[in-house]
Amino acid sequence: MSHPAAIRPVRSMLFVPADSERKLAKGADTAADALILDLEDAVAPSRTAIARGMALDYLRAHTDRSRQQLWVRINPLDGDAALLDLMVAGGAPDGIVLPKVRSASEVTRLSNFLDALEVREGVARGTIRIMAVATETPQALFTLGSYEGCSSRLAALTWGAEDLAAALGASTNRRPDGEYDTVYQLACAGCLAAAHAAAVQPIDTIWPDFKDEAGLAQDARRARQRGFTGKMAIHPAQVDAINAAFTPSDEELAWSRRVVDLFESNPGLGTVGLDGKMLDMPHLKQAQRVLALAQRFAA
Ligand code: COA
Ligand code: MG
Repeated sequence: MSHPAAIRPVRSMLFVPADSERKLAKGADTAADALILDLEDAVAPSRTAIARGMALDYLRAHTDRSRQQLWVRINPLDGDAALLDLMVAGGAPDGIVLPKVRSASEVTRLSNFLDALEVREGVARGTIRIMAVATETPQALFTLGSYEGCSSRLAALTWGAEDLAAALGASTNRRPDGEYDTVYQLACAGCLAAAHAAAVQPIDTIWPDFKDEAGLAQDARRARQRGFTGKMAIHPAQVDAINAAFTPSDEELAWSRRVVDLFESNPGLGTVGLDGKMLDMPHLKQAQRVLALAQRFAA
């Protein structure tokens, strides 16, 4: 996956309700690669105006983003609330999380708004990125192939199963064995493929049961094995496990180096055996990807 220049990859993105002074302070103390200051579902409608002001203040007070990026989740673009939320552009957020999209055309529309807002607010042009929540509406499931080239601001796609369940009139999104039901597995797989098709980061959805550490660790590992490069969190206690799951292990790095070395020292070789396993081009690509990822996190 090639990342457009200047987009730093993130492993963990921690949601913080933007109207909570206490949680904003706690979030800063975590190792989350990014905070998502939430103006949408985690904030009561009566507190939205307060939350906007607090998010803007927080952004302005935290201008060094080298350790922790600051993103803001706004309200869905089809309502007036989203337009008011965009006052946070003045704080130069690293990105906007756009919920409940129906298709990539909403990303393009938001991108156009940001073009104007960046100029008005004196923010460097094109620097506010976008992550779309690409599976929260029924329409969105049919437009997952629409993101390639929709905006140079698009940095990531993620998926959600809670709002989709509400939109589908479902009383649960889980099967009796606890796994996501078919339509939510489709949403997950669709988001993963859509992100890779658009050459942006695929970010896995939240693990809602924040007391279930073992479940989260396993879920995060499986997401990485599938090809996700990061995951959202809802509680500080989830951050370290997510960072660990999305950081290549020493074992993985050593294996990847061996694979790359083997092909480099045997130019013209299409397939080769290593430790009794057949390796060909897809394995080389995956090994190169792991090394590149490690390099970006080290930088
Ligand atoms: N960000 C920052 N700090 C958080 C936090 C978060 N997402 N979630 C909890 N904390 C803080 C709490 O304020 C508490 O700090 P304190 O002891 O100084 O008061 C500490 O971490 C422990 O929290 P805990 O008591 O275990 O959880 P809680 O009952 O206070 O909160 C939630 C539970 C789910 C309400 C809370 O985790 C939360 O608000 N999560 C984010 C929800 C969200 O943004 N959802 C939108 C996306 S789905
Ligand atoms: Mg929601």
